[in-house]
Amino acid sequence: MAYLFANWKMYLNSAQADALMEDLGQVDLGSVEMAVFPNTLDVRKALGALRGNHIAVGAQNAAWVPQGAYTGATSAQVFADGGCTHVLVGHSERRHIFGENNDDVRKKMEAALDAGLTPVLCIGETKEDMEADKTMYRLKKQLTKALEGLVIPKGKLFVAYEPVWAISGSGNGTPCAPEKAEEVHHAIREEMKGLVNWDVPLLYGGSTNDENVVSYLSLECVDGVLVGRASTTADSLRNLIERMKSVS
Ligand code: 13P
Repeated sequence: MAYLFANWKMYLNSAQADALMEDLGQVDLGSVEMAVFPNTLDVRKALGALRGNHIAVGAQNAAWVPQGAYTGATSAQVFADGGCTHVLVGHSERRHIFGENNDDVRKKMEAALDAGLTPVLCIGETKEDMEADKTMYRLKKQLTKALEGLVIPKGKLFVAYEPVWAISGSGNGTPCAPEKAEEVHHAIREEMKGLVNWDVPLLYGGSTNDENVVSYLSLECVDGVLVGRASTTADSLRNLIERMKSVS
């Protein structure tokens, strides 16, 4: 079994999202466990189109307050009431384009858990961090700030390692060498032992596609992938699923 979490970001217009959901509703997933994170407007449609294929639907971002005078925001509680089960928290693009810091991420983690959603906590170092040999310093800080002292029920958390420099579009789009991904995931797993008392599934994200997905999935510490661009067309998504089925 392997996880395929598809973050559609803001790539798709309504017609493209409809077509992709329709296609995905028919795909044989085998032992691939899938969640899709559409834009907020398409969440309800996704819930209807993907339910039959047991594909979970999540929010790309959620506000930390349940309701109130917060123009433009949608809360974790609203997503949960609407039927979502997952939420991305601390995605690199939220941190680096929209300026969210570790305190914001912590509040969003708490709100997500309070609302009964499963957070997918995204962490990752910048190119500057990596070049200054500060990868683990950055990741430990992100993990500790987000998780320390929280009691998280078993199965209600994923951690996604997405090096900022490996993300296509917003980052540098340089795929992470699998050996490096394994080294970092191993260190994350060790760090997680002091924070959560059950084995949290770890995902890798950053320029993943059907050609390289097997090299990440075959790593000991990687339980699945969080995919952006390559999950946004029917052909590449189907190819990705087929490659994942062949190894999971
Ligand atoms: P890409 O797969 O487009 O590099 O995006 C990764 C990501 O940010 C998923 O959340």
